Amino acid sequence: MGSVGVILMIFSLIIAITSVDAKSQMSKQEKTWFRNVCRGKEKIVKIHFYVQDVLSGPNKTVWEVSRSNITSISPTSFGQVRVLDDLITAGPEKNSTELGRLQGLITFADLKESALAMNINVVFSKGKYNGSTLCVLGRNPILEMDRELPIVGGTGVFRMARGYSISNTYSYDPVQDYGVLEYTIYVAYVMKSRDVLH
Ligand SMILES: *[C@@H]1O[C@H](CO)[C@@H](O)[C@H](O)[C@H]1NC(C)=O
Ligand SMILES: *[C@@H]1O[C@H](CO)[C@@H](O)[C@H](O)[C@H]1NC(C)=O
Ligand SMILES: *[C@@H]1O[C@H](CO)[C@@H](O)[C@H](O)[C@H]1NC(C)=O
Ligand SMILES: *[C@@H]1O[C@H](CO)[C@@H](O)[C@H](O)[C@H]1NC(C)=O
Repeated sequence: MGSVGVILMIFSLIIAITSVDAKSQMSKQEKTWFRNVCRGKEKIVKIHFYVQDVLSGPNKTVWEVSRSNITSISPTSFGQVRVLDDLITAGPEKNSTELGRLQGLITFADLKESALAMNINVVFSKGKYNGSTLCVLGRNPILEMDRELPIVGGTGVFRMARGYSISNTYSYDPVQDYGVLEYTIYVAYVMKSRDVLH
């Protein structure tokens, strides 16, 4: 065996030892999860909710962070970056049951059309998804119907999630500058339990 072979052997030994070590520290649930990754055991769910977009007033939840020097003369607000932390509700009314928050950055990123580059997280705070997040990343042509955005990942229950979300503007009140958005998410994720697929 040459010196390269010896080095390779030592490396694979180290990897084997560290992975055995990591495995022994894994909980039963984690082990099931890893087994499910290998077996491709995924669950697909549909999640439906509304987002409360408070665009003005003392309690607004969408704030400008920065803008380019053509934003003010751009028909599409090109170059404006906003950060948001919107309430997520089960129904369209603002006093409807809280399900979580929608948090992240939106950038007006199209010179000709009204379209955003979005980098936002759905942060759940209720029920079986409490503490879990989904990451939504993509282009959002805000004047169109049934805007499709990719779900590129998740945490907690939604580890290794992928899917897509369809969103629409449910209502907009120009006097209060208050919008309600409707989201339907279709997401596949690896199960942590031995649940039967459905
Ligand atoms: C803003 O939030 C505070 C605290 O929750 C509340 O008392 C106040 O009425 C809100 N103001 C408006 C305009 O909604
Ligand atoms: C934008 O900023 C650059 C550099 O500061 C400047 O040269 C340019 O004239 C500005 N353009 C507009 C439209 O204000
Ligand atoms: C929510 O607010 C509406 C008025 O906007 C009211 O009629 C309704 O009773 C409220 N619902 C709850 C659960 O508080
Ligand atoms: C969600 O999880 C947090 C942190 O574990 C906990 O404090 C909170 O009570 C939970 N909320 C619900 C509605 O289950």
